[in-house]
This record gives sequence, C-alpha cells and structure tokens, in this order.
Amino acid sequence: MATETTILEPPLHLPPGTDVQADPLLDRGEGGEGVRRRDFINVAAISFAGVGALFVVPALLNQMNPSADVLAEASVEADLSAIEPGQSVKTIWRKQPIFLRNLTPAEIAAANAVDVSTLRDPATLAERTKEGKQNWLITLAVCTHLGCIPLGAGTGEPKGEFGGYFCPCHGSSYDTAARIRKGPAPLNLEVPEYEFLTDTTIQIG
Ligand code: FES
Repeated sequence: MATETTILEPPLHLPPGTDVQADPLLDRGEGGEGVRRRDFINVAAISFAGVGALFVVPALLNQMNPSADVLAEASVEADLSAIEPGQSVKTIWRKQPIFLRNLTPAEIAAANAVDVSTLRDPATLAERTKEGKQNWLITLAVCTHLGCIPLGAGTGEPKGEFGGYFCPCHGSSYDTAARIRKGPAPLNLEVPEYEFLTDTTIQIG
C-alpha cells in the first residue's frame, strides 16, 4: 500500500501587512526570487567579511611593527665627556650593561705591548677601538664565560692581574683592551656596534 508523505515547511514569520509576492528579497521556493534572497544574504556576508578584513589587516600589521620602546632601545647615545682617563662608567643598551672606558696612555701602551698571537681570542687594541680614538674602549659588560658582570669599572673594584676587568664568578681576567687573558671565559668582552657622532658622543647600536 502506497504511503503519502507530506513535507511541512516552517512557517514564515512576517510583519502584518507584508506582501509576500511583492517583496523580491523573500524566499519563495526554487524559483528565481528565492535565489535572489540567498544571493543577497551571501553578498552581505562577503561584504561584511571584506570590511572586517580591512580593519583586521592593518591591526595585524600594527602588531608586527616594533613598539616605540623597542625602537628606542635599538640604539642609545652616550656622552663620554665626563669620563676622565682611567675611569669607566656603565650604561645600558638593549637591556645589557656596557662599559665605557677612557684608557690612560699607560693602559694603551700595555695593551699594545701584548703579542697578539699568544692570546686566546687574538685582537689588537686598534681592532677593538675606532681609528684615532684608541683611548675609548667600548665593550659589553658581560663575561663571555657564563654572563656575569665583571668588576673593574667602579671606583676601588679589582681590575684583575691584567689591569682590565675581573670576573669573580669563576676568576676570568681581562686586560686593558678587555681581552681574555686568564680563567674560563673563552672570548674577549664583546665590542658592540657603535659610532662617534661627535668627539665625545657615541651612538651604540
Ligand atoms: S661568568 Fe665570568 S668567569 Fe664565569
């Protein structure tokens, strides 16, 4: 015996007085008018997605840009004019301590008297300073062994047996060109990228 199945469509809730036949956006089945309603919904959705993307893309690009803080830290200026011969001061660059040292003529002579071929990390003082400004020794204040801050910059601090810096953590000694001379540190104190802006002002980074 044949069974008849009736498919009931959900009722369409419309405001009173709406003329279903006259509204081209209302879905009235498989005919062309129904397609127009779906098209309208799809176009609206794509349009909103497009507008959203216009806001999201610049926001993402903004997030990818370095912040003002990071840009400010990328380089730092240091005034050397108050640092007397034989003095060192510390500054900070990219969250790392930096030694700014004004070498005395005797310290320069001691650095230049060393046979570079005997060094663990061979480099001359001239290679570690700027031309004509060998007295200005600019290095990271970070021991190349395990990263302690060596002593020797502050008044009365031990400079180690080579007159430069001494790292008390495990006993590394650096000379007056901040080259490693004794102890477990494998390398000289690192010279950061920097340039002289004036005779007594440098920009690090
Ligand atoms: S961290 Fe400087 S000697 Fe070990």
